[in-house]
Amino acid sequence: MKRPSEIASPEGKLGVLLPGMGAVATTTIAGVMLARRGLGEPVGSLTQNATIRLGKRTENRTPLVRDFVPLAGLDQLVFGGWDIFPDSAYEAAKHAKVLEDRHLEPIREELDAVRPMPGVFYPEYVKRLNGTHVKTGATKADMVEQLREDIRRFKRDNGCSRCVAVWCGSTETYFPPSAVHDSVESFEKGLASNDPGISNSQMYAWACIKEKVPFANGAPNLTVDFPAAFDLARDEGVAFAGKDFKTGQTLMKTILAPGFKARMLGIAGWFSTNILGNRDGEVLEDPGSFKSKEVTKLGVLDYVLQPKMYPKLYGELFHVVRINYYPPRGDAKEGWDNIDIFGWLGYPMQIKVDFLCRDSILAAPIVLDLALFLDLAQRSSMSGIQEWLSFYFKSPTVAPNLYPEHDLFIQLMKLKNTLRWLKGEEPITHIGHEYYD
Ligand SMILES: NC(=O)c1ccc[n+]([C@@H]2O[C@H](COP(=O)([O-])OP(=O)(O)OC[C@H]3O[C@@H](n4cnc5c(N)ncnc54)[C@H](O)[C@@H]3O)[C@@H](O)[C@H]2O)c1
Repeated sequence: MKRPSEIASPEGKLGVLLPGMGAVATTTIAGVMLARRGLGEPVGSLTQNATIRLGKRTENRTPLVRDFVPLAGLDQLVFGGWDIFPDSAYEAAKHAKVLEDRHLEPIREELDAVRPMPGVFYPEYVKRLNGTHVKTGATKADMVEQLREDIRRFKRDNGCSRCVAVWCGSTETYFPPSAVHDSVESFEKGLASNDPGISNSQMYAWACIKEKVPFANGAPNLTVDFPAAFDLARDEGVAFAGKDFKTGQTLMKTILAPGFKARMLGIAGWFSTNILGNRDGEVLEDPGSFKSKEVTKLGVLDYVLQPKMYPKLYGELFHVVRINYYPPRGDAKEGWDNIDIFGWLGYPMQIKVDFLCRDSILAAPIVLDLALFLDLAQRSSMSGIQEWLSFYFKSPTVAPNLYPEHDLFIQLMKLKNTLRWLKGEEPITHIGHEYYD
């Protein structure tokens, strides 16, 4: 790919459209509203907090990322989205019980004004939900048209110069791609003939790409992960990235596993179990939705550890992931990991991790960063898969002939080097021999 000769400036308002306005989406929206009033800190967001080193270590050039690349400011964001329940963002946030009243009440009015547009909902793709705030239409093609009209209206009504979308909807049941996903033509035909292979989230993604709205997928469903979507995004010149926000247990895995591998320590087994009690947990009780999650969660270790390359260390690794719905915990998940490692001469050791985390608190900064970085990509004419955003995902979408990079630290280097490249700065290789010449 050629480096873009210029990056369009982030002028005007940026519409942030969130299909699925539940716990993650409302925590994100409320956090941004609080941050711009100085009532909360956007902790965990790389776009808001991180610096980036430029040039040699002796040059002392380390601007904030947001001063280095032209990102939209928090004051320029306007939130909207869709849900299959009519609750405002305030009501949905109250229901989600992630944020306390001390955070919700000061922004109540502003949050209450964010009301979801009716969703596209064919119930066969998400069990255990009965949406009431839904669109009607004879075909899936009609649904896509209605979503496109929603986007245009939202942009007009809110005076946005452009929009970006991040899927924050429930996890859909596992569906492997079929012939309908092969090409733009077959997908368009499938929309017109109500092909059962086309899920709700795929209709949102299709509508966004057609409206030139960059799209990120925060759930494990194959929302934009199929050849027809790749082709459409390329033809329309739209940036996209996926999939499944990397928070909680998988974040810990991609922090720990690269460390063990760096030291060439063996791993015999990794048993991960979780309890969580939010609506996401309830949806994941359904075996179909769990299967989608399991696929993205299990893949991680394989790619980080490369057992084929290191059969003596990782060839026999026994990896199990469990999720149990346990309502008393709400959004405060607990994830346990038992890791059986082995060292010199094969002597066994154990590591136990008990992460009492808050899912939506970890996911919100990811939603914000993805919205801002995808908008940057779009303004830089970088269309198609944005692999440099793998840092944020459990199961990064990559070109069909590539394996995904899961190591968090390689992902971070890739992200920052992409920003340097965008601005014509030298990538940082960490060789550093010049300091000793
Ligand atoms: N929180 C995390 O750490 C994390 C990590 C990775 C992935 N995710 C994924 O992010 C998504 C959101 O998580 P959450 O905790 O906010 O869940 P949630 O259940 O609180 O919110 C999901 C929302 O999506 C809505 N929805 C479902 N189908 C829809 C449709 N067709 N159109 C519009 N809205 C629809 C639901 O009504 C609900 O309000 C889930 O898919 C989850 O698996 C979350």
